[in-house]
Formats: sequence, structure tokens, C-alpha cells
Amino acid sequence: MQRYKDPEAKDKMNPFAEQEAWEEHQIGKSKLQFGSKDRKRSSDDYQYVFEDGIDFVKSSVIEGTKLEEDSDQEDADEKDMLKRELQDERKTLPIYKFRDELLKAVEEFQVIVIVGETGSGKTTQIPQYLHEAGYTAKGKVACTQPRRVAAMSVAARVSQEMGVKLGHEVGYSIRFEDCTSEKTLIKYMTDGMLLREFLGEPDLASYSVVMVDEAHERTLSTDILFGLVKDISRFRPDLKLLISSATLDAEKFSDYFDSAPIFKIPGRRYPVEVHYTKAPEADYIDAAIVTVLQIHVTQSPGDILVFLTGQEEIETIDEILKHRTRGLGTKIAELLICPIYANLPTELQAKIFEPTPEGARKVVLATNIAETSLTIDGIKYVVDPGFCKIKSYNPRTGMESLLINPISKASANQRAGRSGRTGPGKCFRLYTSYNYMHDLEDNTVPEIQRTNLANVVLTLKSLGIHDLVNFDFMDPPPSEALLKALEQLFALSALNSRGELTKTGRRMAEFPLDPMLSKMIVASEKYKCSDEAISIACMLSVGNSIFYRPKDKQVHADNARLNFHTGNVGDHIALLNVYNSWRETDYSTQWCYENYIQVRSMKRARDIRDQLEGLMERVEIEISSNASDLDAIKKAITSGFFHHSARLQKNGSYRTVKNPQTVFIHPSSGLAQVLPRWTIYHELVLTTKEYMRQVTELKPDWLVEIAPHYYQLKDVDDAGSKKLPKGEGRAAL
Ligand code: CDP
Ligand code: MG
Repeated sequence: MQRYKDPEAKDKMNPFAEQEAWEEHQIGKSKLQFGSKDRKRSSDDYQYVFEDGIDFVKSSVIEGTKLEEDSDQEDADEKDMLKRELQDERKTLPIYKFRDELLKAVEEFQVIVIVGETGSGKTTQIPQYLHEAGYTAKGKVACTQPRRVAAMSVAARVSQEMGVKLGHEVGYSIRFEDCTSEKTLIKYMTDGMLLREFLGEPDLASYSVVMVDEAHERTLSTDILFGLVKDISRFRPDLKLLISSATLDAEKFSDYFDSAPIFKIPGRRYPVEVHYTKAPEADYIDAAIVTVLQIHVTQSPGDILVFLTGQEEIETIDEILKHRTRGLGTKIAELLICPIYANLPTELQAKIFEPTPEGARKVVLATNIAETSLTIDGIKYVVDPGFCKIKSYNPRTGMESLLINPISKASANQRAGRSGRTGPGKCFRLYTSYNYMHDLEDNTVPEIQRTNLANVVLTLKSLGIHDLVNFDFMDPPPSEALLKALEQLFALSALNSRGELTKTGRRMAEFPLDPMLSKMIVASEKYKCSDEAISIACMLSVGNSIFYRPKDKQVHADNARLNFHTGNVGDHIALLNVYNSWRETDYSTQWCYENYIQVRSMKRARDIRDQLEGLMERVEIEISSNASDLDAIKKAITSGFFHHSARLQKNGSYRTVKNPQTVFIHPSSGLAQVLPRWTIYHELVLTTKEYMRQVTELKPDWLVEIAPHYYQLKDVDDAGSKKLPKGEGRAAL
């Protein structure tokens, strides 16, 4: 606790003191394991939050831009808003005044870049305007979103506004979930789904307008879409293209689209006071909780938005805040906690949009999704720890890992802006102004420049685009990454040595999965275990939300989980056991409760599995089960994931076989205590260490048998490891 009060920490003479502390902060955050003993404060410490708050310094005010003529009306608007009909509400959005002008521009130009502050109504209104102006009579209007939650929630909102049932005139399409019908005229979809639609309809003939929304996010799929839609717009003059973005650097988009006109929607924005911590915070989770409580107790009414990096963090804070506010007694107003993240069940997503009851305060715990994709009315305070989770990829080693990184200045300012939408706001940055100035990059690097491109290369190849080097990228990926992707696809036998798609590759491209997973499925035909392969694939696709571990029943939950691991079968087979056992109970909910398994995740897995089964028919692979032959199933897994092999070291760590790197088995793995000599893993996550998640034991000969072009005998020769440098010899097993 004294950490915040430590006078030395604040005024060190060393000008780099803050810099060092910031680095410590970064390390501190990754050292932090929720619920682990590393925590520096127990949640009971927060009892003293009022004596031990965080010192903030107000440093700057981001000026607001107000539309003059609304200023009077706006207050009235604000109060009436909730009572008005949705149609009236539509008219209050900043974009409404520009409706006719915008439609005129769309008529005149084929491609338009649209720029407008978040919340001005771009996503919900433009597709409706186009519909009202008759564009949907000529074809569907597509509107892409980088995030599935945004696609779903916006579609739900627009269907409400139009008074139609979701999935009828207005629908959405996200991976593994198609909520559209014959009737659908306005289709919200993830950018990745539109990309996949090119496979079935290379000219997007069924669409009259494509709106690439949230273009500033520069996701991998959005960047590829840019190239594809630009290309088809040349031979489909009737197709309208809208590129919409929440940031002002629209010139780049305009330049790329042959100097397309830029349509600016002046947003209303109020000034936002930015506060920085005086000293760096060693633990941002901790600091975020304290700050929320501090705001709640000391600041005037208004909701709070906290930016966090992922579901785990959100759940942790949710729990601690609930616990803490229980102790605050009745003197303090009620604090409603609303989480929002990608895997949040749909029925809970709507909760964040519900108006806050009088006398209470809402705190929204959100991932980056609330930065620009979703607008939550009533937010007056933003708490910004300054981090987000991003995928990072090292093209040299081909290793991909999820890590928590500092955000960019552009992101920090977007986040701050979320507090000034309906009135003056305040943003509390849990870092110092020095950190902001010196440690944050100006902009986030586009995903295309920091990710594994195997998936995209496979998609482009199946679209008949062979010359990837000359593909019209807005920002080209590093050629090393392209090369690595080609190599990887070649190793997976998806491409031949001339870089052409093979039959295996064509089959793999049918699956909306990472190429390694698709390969595992395609390879399962050979091992006669396609039934098992798609069950494993669907369970892996659900993510890490299968098992749950209630605080008061951890031992029971752990025992239940271990049951599926009997015989140290490995995590993949354990997931398969979970799925099959559930299937045997005829998908019983009760069974899930008894086994500490999230029924929601299982239902999702089942949906995904149904779709994979449908795709198996398309690629003409028969569903056959080979449940008793675990080696066959593991070989199918190895066929997809042989790149992810690791060998045990003496000290209990692992060394990846190609591109040696030290990794560990994630503590949640069933093999964490077993430490098999050779393993294959699903993914790497970097938290306190570089962990392998979802691990299965491997026989090293399989690597040579299955991927002879990638592994030679010397790679898997146990004797060979004696030659490794000291301390890295093979394990004495
Ligand atoms: O796309 P842009 O950020 O310009 O704005 P929008 O998403 O179209 O949001 C316009 C308005 O619709 C905002 O006031 C949102 O609060 C509201 N909205 C909502 O109430 N529920 C949703 N699911 C999405 C938007
Ligand atoms: Mg939007």
C-alpha cells in the first residue's frame, strides 16, 4: 500500500526513473497472475481505499468540438432521449443532418471515404439510409466489423430501429453463426466473413453496397478486403464502396482508393480532462480497481468505462469489485458492473446498453471493443490502464504469441474521447504523462505487419491470386512473413513446390479455421478418425472457456477435470472426452453442472461441430470414428501441428524443436505434472512465461513420418541432443 505513498518513487532525481518504473510496470503486469500469491494487495486492503487512493495529476484537456446550433437543444435531447421513440432518436444522431448530402455523394461517386467521431451514427444509420434510398432493391448492403460482438449488437440495434425481426431484413454473419435469411437486405458481418464470401461469389454479385466499417482498425481481414473490393469495383461500376473510419487520417484511405472523396461528419464532442498518475503503477489491475472506487466515491454521477485486455482480467475485476462494494454499505450509491468482451453470451451483451437506474452508477468493464466499435451512452469517466492484448508474430521463427502490450497514442486518445460524448468527461490514465509522451507509439502497427499470414495466403490462393508480392496492399506485409506463410503452407502440403494450391490445400481452404486446424481435419481422413478430429477442432475453437472453477469448489472442479485426463491422454484427447461424454448424455445441461463445465461453451462447440460436419460433406470426407486408436488421433493432430513440437529439457522446461525457444507447459494442462519428453501444442501464450496451451504427448518418429520435408531424423534423434549446449541436454527420463 505504501507504494502509492512512497515519496521517493515520485521525485527521483534520475530523469529516467519513470522510464525504469514503466518498464517495471510492464514486467509487473506480466508477472501478475490473478489469484496467485504474487498479488501485492489482498482484496481486503481495499477497505482502506479512501486513505490509500491513487494520486492523479490533471495534465491536459482534449478540446471538444461542439456543433453550435445544438448546444441548447442538446441538454433537452439528452433528457428526452430515453422517452422518445427510436425513430426520433435516430434523428438526433450527428449524422442525421448529413443524410441527404451523404446519399447524394454515394450516388455521384463509386467510392467514398467517410470519417466521423465514434457514436455519430455511421454504423447503425448509413446502411439504413441506403436501404431507404432504394439500394437494397438492387442487392444487399454489407457492413463489415472487425469484431463479432459489434456485428451482432449493431445488427440487433438496427433491426429494432427498423422494427423487424433480427435475421430477417437485418441480419448478421460471424464465423460459425449465420443469422441471415433469404429476406436479408442489410447484413452486418465480420470482415473475415466477407473475405470468405469471396470464395463463393468472387464478384460479390448479390451486393449493391459494401461498407468497410472501422477501417482505421486495420485488421488483417480489412486490409485484404481493401485490395479485393478495390479490384472488383473496377469491373463492377454499379457496386458502391464506403470506407468508414473513426479517425481523421482518412487521406491514406482516399489515396489508396484512387483519390476517393472524403465525407466528414462533424461529431459532437465535449472537452475531456485527462489525468495521469503521478507515479507509474506496478499493477494496473489493482490500480484500475482503486480508481473505479475512487471515482465512484468522489465524482459526480456518470458511468465509468474501464479498458482491459481480456476476459480473464474482466472477470477478475468484476469479482473483486463486487466483493469490495458489498463492504461499502448503504451510504454509497449502487455500482452496477457490466462486462463486455467477445465471448460474452449474447443475452448478457444487451445489458451494457440498458440505461443506468437513477441513483446508481454503471461501470462497464470492456476490452478494446469499446474503443470505437461500440458506443455506450452515459459514459462520463474513462479508466485507461494503457494496455491491450495483441497477437505478435516473429516471421523469423514463425512463432505467434498473444501478449499484453502498451497501446498507441491514437488508441489512448480514442479511449479518452469515449468519456466526452454526451457531456464533458474525464479520463484517468493509469500511467504517467511521461509514459504517454515517450513510451507510446503514435499508431498501432497494422495487423498485416505483425501476424502469421498463412491463413490469408491460403484464402488468396484459393481466390486465384497467385502473385502475392504484387497484390495491392495498403501497407504490404514484410516479405519475410509472406515467405514464411508460403513455407508453412508448403510444409502442410497445401501448396506444391510451385506455390500452387494442392487438393489438400483446396480442401483446407473450405474450413474457416487456422490452416493447422484445417490440416488436422483433412488429415484425419487418412487416420479414419474424422469424427474425433472435428470434435477436437470445435472444442479448440471455443477457446479456454470450457471448464470453470468456482472459488469455493476448486478441489471438486479440479477433480472433475482430471477425470477427463485419465491415462494422461493429453489435453486434446481430454477435450474430446469432454465432448463425447456430453454427447453420450444427449447433451445434458445437468451433466455439465456436475462436471464443472460451461454449458454455454459446449453448446457453441456443438454448433461449430455441426458446421464442420457440413463442410466435411463439401470436401467429401466421410465421418468415421476411430475412438480406440489414440495414436491415430494424435497422428492426425500432429499432421496439422507438427510445427508446434517441443522437447523436454533437464530443468523441466521445454525447447521447441525447430527455431529453439524455451517454453513451458501451461499449469492448466493435464500434462503439467507429467512432463512427457516430446509434446505438440496448440498455441503459445506469454504471461509470466512463454506457455504452451493444450498439450499432447508425441512420439518423435511421427514428426519424420508425417512431415519428412520439415523434420529430418537428426531433429528428433534423442542422442543428438547431447550435443546441445550445457544445461540444455535431454531430460533424464
Ligand atoms: O458507428 P458510429 O460509431 O458512428 O455510431 P453507431 O454505432 O451507429 O451508434 C449510434 C448510436 O446508436 C449511439 O448513440 C449508440 O449508443 C446507439 N447504439 C445502441 O444503442 N445500441 C447498439 N447496439 C449500437 C448503437
Ligand atoms: Mg461504428
